[in-house]
Amino acid sequence: MKLIYMAGKGGVGKSVCSAASGIWMADQGKETLVFSMDPAHSLSDIFDIDLGSRPKKIREHLYAYEPDLGQEASGFYRRYKSILSALFGLFEVEVRPDDFGSLPGVSELIFMDKLNDIYVEKGYDYVVIDSAPTAMVLPLLQLPSITTGFITRVLGMRSRWMGVLDLLEPGFGDRILQEVRTMRQKAETMREALLDPNIAAITVVTIPEKAAVEESRRLIETVQSHGVSVASIIINHVIPDCDCRFCQEKKVSQSSYIDDLYQNYSNKNIVILPDYGGEVKGEGLVQVARDLYCSAP
Ligand SMILES: Nc1ncnc2c1ncn2[C@@H]1O[C@H](COP(=O)(O)OP(=O)(O)O)[C@@H](O)[C@H]1O
Ligand SMILES: [Mg+2]
Repeated sequence: MKLIYMAGKGGVGKSVCSAASGIWMADQGKETLVFSMDPAHSLSDIFDIDLGSRPKKIREHLYAYEPDLGQEASGFYRRYKSILSALFGLFEVEVRPDDFGSLPGVSELIFMDKLNDIYVEKGYDYVVIDSAPTAMVLPLLQLPSITTGFITRVLGMRSRWMGVLDLLEPGFGDRILQEVRTMRQKAETMREALLDPNIAAITVVTIPEKAAVEESRRLIETVQSHGVSVASIIINHVIPDCDCRFCQEKKVSQSSYIDDLYQNYSNKNIVILPDYGGEVKGEGLVQVARDLYCSAP
């Protein structure tokens, strides 16, 4: 199974590129899942199909899945209630199950858990991950250290509190530790998958504008400092040839950023995606797929 991870800031076209990549892989006869890790799901809109909270077949060989964060968060809360109450009790914060999904890091943890299920089942040839806007680093890379932080805290309280927890219910303390270890193992499995260039290809989507190019550069540096290499860059919204003054001026400003990207990342696969002049969805994705995968290198 191969993972294709689309990263980049908000609004640059990650979801459109994920959906189009899914169509391309599926048209090559590969069983493909497009998986949304962005709490603000947009695959339903882009594919123009109502996606439920399980993987849904939307085309020959193609499935799409937007986990329902609210539903998953309450399931997750029930499953890990013992750890969570121990941890939040530790911080003296009261958390209601309904609020749990919006706590920092929790959506990543839940999506990682779902992605891990899909990854270990090995039911697809390709999983395209449509990620949430990434500021600096991919959450999947950080999760193991976040869960390690949990473990350290739980272990830290072990000597003082585990005995007390065990008095409440024999084995309760050890069960908490076991559950945290399982969570960490899943996070570690997904991190290792992402680090393995034979399994994962990370694509950074950007647009030829100063702020976006700067942010992509920082993202690529940070990701690479974690030992993960970025395989491809998609430069989206590139103005096609046109004689009007507006387009010509915009093209001049875009060209300097495009040249910079080619110069700085000559070792990466760089793909130019034109601006289509309007929202891209439904059957329009077939053209995007061709532009992404059939264009001359
Ligand atoms: N090349 C393009 N030409 C025209 N519109 C585009 C293009 N790429 C993306 N869009 C539009 O831009 C908006 C944001 O794209 P989206 O893929 O949802 O971004 P992200 O997932 O990075 O937030 C959508 O309305 C989409 O249809
Ligand atoms: Mg998106």
